[in-house]
Amino acid sequence: MTILNLNRVVEQTLVLNSNLLRISRVTVEKALDRNLPDIVGSADQIQQGFVNLISNAVEAMEGSGGGTLTVTTGHISREGKVMVRFKDTGKGIAKENLARIFEPFFTTKKEKKGVGLGLSVVYGIIEEHGGSIHVESREGEGSIFTVELPLKHPSDPQPGNGGAHEH
Ligand SMILES: Nc1ncnc2c1ncn2[C@@H]1O[C@H](COP(=O)(O)OP(=O)(O)OP(=O)(O)O)[C@@H](O)[C@H]1O
Ligand SMILES: [Mg+2]
Repeated sequence: MTILNLNRVVEQTLVLNSNLLRISRVTVEKALDRNLPDIVGSADQIQQGFVNLISNAVEAMEGSGGGTLTVTTGHISREGKVMVRFKDTGKGIAKENLARIFEPFFTTKKEKKGVGLGLSVVYGIIEEHGGSIHVESREGEGSIFTVELPLKHPSDPQPGNGGAHEH
């Protein structure tokens, strides 16, 4: 667990996937909040989660020969959270599958292409950080995955009154 900035993790993840994105003809658009506050967490784990979300987006756009991946970050100050949103222009998710996509081994991909673990791993990582993930999608119209993470990790020591006494 370290102090990290999600913009940096996003940038690093995009560099790591730049070949895949180029070969798959995916244009990346970034709308990163330059004043995004730091959070406490595992950069490696969060990066792994972003890799899984990007892989899914790329796979969803394969059938149409590419598309646009828009990555947005933002600060929800009133809730003490930051958010990262991955929006793709892929084939979208059928309504009847929406409730199941985070289940381990749920996949709609052909044999050998998908194991169905990507999103369950993402879910576990986000949960471990005290955050949440939700999806908006319509078949044929693309998908939006929004991750919200608290500024403070749940395992952080809670701020006490530091021994100061008020009388
Ligand atoms: N961006 C997306 N666009 C369309 N469908 C998606 C997207 N992300 C996930 N899905 C759907 O959710 C299912 C589960 O995703 P998940 O990443 O868990 O498994 P997978 O991609 O099928 O396999 P794996 O990640 O193990 O290679 C996918 O099979 C697909 O039907
Ligand atoms: Mg996947």
